[in-house]
Amino acid sequence: MRVNLTVNGDRRHADDVWEGESLLYVLRERLGLPGSKNACEQGECGSCTVYLDGVPACACLVAAGQAEGREVRTVEGLADGDTLDPVQEAFVECGAVQCGFCTPGLLVAAHDLIERDPDPGDAEIREALAGNLCRCTGYEKIMDAVRLAAARKAAS
Ligand code: FES
Ligand code: FES
Repeated sequence: MRVNLTVNGDRRHADDVWEGESLLYVLRERLGLPGSKNACEQGECGSCTVYLDGVPACACLVAAGQAEGREVRTVEGLADGDTLDPVQEAFVECGAVQCGFCTPGLLVAAHDLIERDPDPGDAEIREALAGNLCRCTGYEKIMDAVRLAAARKAAS
């Protein structure tokens, strides 16, 4: 089947999509957007998090056919051209990236949190990121990055 969707503001389509194929597979393997990572493929790790109609979702759990006609925003769509989103900048500055496998999903989740709550406390940050697993950082630098991004957004 053909699946039509909007990805990062562009109308896109994928042909010959199998009914059991995930949105994550379509994004990575058919549309050339490998930013969203495939770590568990079971909705457990959050590395595949994308916005689906403005709401974060695990792309590995969304059947490609369910994305028909919908809006998807991936980690590639957070930056404005060559200008990183403040959340991305904060992750780099705070050293919140090691192997990077968790990073795209964390960026989308953190971006969503700060859009919804420009001044989140630590409990809100932890709750917002609870579905995103990181094996490398111990989370403290990720917390630092989200605090920094929120502070910058509040000051802007
Ligand atoms: S790859 Fe989707 S939640 Fe882990
Ligand atoms: S930086 Fe490696 S899993 Fe998070």
